[in-house]
Amino acid sequence: MHIRYKQILWPGIYLLPIAAIALAAAGCGGGSSSTASSGLPASKATLAQVQQGQAVVTSFGCTDCHNRGVDNPADTHWMAGFIGASGGTGPGAYQIGPFATYAANLTPDTTTGIGKYSDNQIYNALKYGLDPAATPDVTITSTTPGQGNFPATPHYLAPPMPWPSIRHLSDTQLWQIIAYLKHGITAVSNTVPASQGPPDFWASSYTAAAVGPAVIPAYPSGNELFQP
Ligand code: HEC
Repeated sequence: MHIRYKQILWPGIYLLPIAAIALAAAGCGGGSSSTASSGLPASKATLAQVQQGQAVVTSFGCTDCHNRGVDNPADTHWMAGFIGASGGTGPGAYQIGPFATYAANLTPDTTTGIGKYSDNQIYNALKYGLDPAATPDVTITSTTPGQGNFPATPHYLAPPMPWPSIRHLSDTQLWQIIAYLKHGITAVSNTVPASQGPPDFWASSYTAAAVGPAVIPAYPSGNELFQP
């Protein structure tokens, strides 16, 4: 089955994070190589990293899905994902073809949130779309299944999680997001129902033909044309 959710489902929600990429890249790219030695992944998260992570998370549309559309850290369920039982509807619950999917609890709660995963597992989720519950805690060095620790049979995160866009953020920004979510917000206990999905764990939905290349070619390429 081939689900072209990018085109036919949630176009408004999907486009928002895409538009925000440009803002995030322009505004807080800061790809300083010194960041790695003064915060995640090499050391403990820093306050500066967490503050920058807040800016990326709140400008990138994460809250559209993971906080019921409310972009406000004062929300009592900040980043706790879909609230409700399996089969429930409303913000954070999606119907992708025959499958019900639910926005995950991204708070550091160690039972119901991402506190049960390593920082590296969250990186692999954002960079490669790999479900942290089904993917070992490894450093991945290839985007080809079966090579460089990339799982031979990847279990991808269910749509509409826009990891094919999120992966194009800089590593600096990805680690800022992780610093913020895992080390910069309070844990909220909220059990999100398991998402449903096809037997191939969405692999056929996430081909390069469907979502573009893992690495965007350097400018200019394709239909890009510089006209100052
Ligand atoms: C359009 C909706 C949508 C947006 C926008 C979105 N997500 Fe998600 N996200 C989801 C859904 C749905 C899931 C659950 C996927 C699954 O169950 O396989 C998910 C899962 C995740 C997971 C895996 C958590 C786990 O416990 O498995 C992480 C991490 C995550 N999202 C981070 C983010 C971040 C960071 C952003 C913003 C940069 C973001 N998401 C934006 C819908 C979204």
